[in-house]
Amino acid sequence: MENNLITIHVEDREGVTKELEIPTDINLSLMEVLKGSGYEILATCGGIALCATCHVEVLDGADNLPEPEDNELDMLDTLPDADDDSRLSCQLRLTDENDGLKIRIRGSLQ
Ligand code: FES
Repeated sequence: MENNLITIHVEDREGVTKELEIPTDINLSLMEVLKGSGYEILATCGGIALCATCHVEVLDGADNLPEPEDNELDMLDTLPDADDDSRLSCQLRLTDENDGLKIRIRGSLQ
């Protein structure tokens, strides 16, 4: 791992997994990184934990993510398909600790 560069594994809605190399010295959320990498995520609220279309399931590495704030948990509670591994990617800013993170994109497209 180079300084400030981590690799994460992203599974899309079709079950295809790709590796993304992400700089951690930029002030972007995981939602913004995923959109910037070409993944279709509506993010209609602009990243303030109000739409849940940036929903991801964390398959590996959840322990290295920051604990969710109440507003994230409240929004996840409204999702019928959320479970214990669910997070809102707009609320996640990755650090060097998150090298190897595995996620699955779950956010709705409507
Ligand atoms: S972008 Fe709306 S909740 Fe994350």
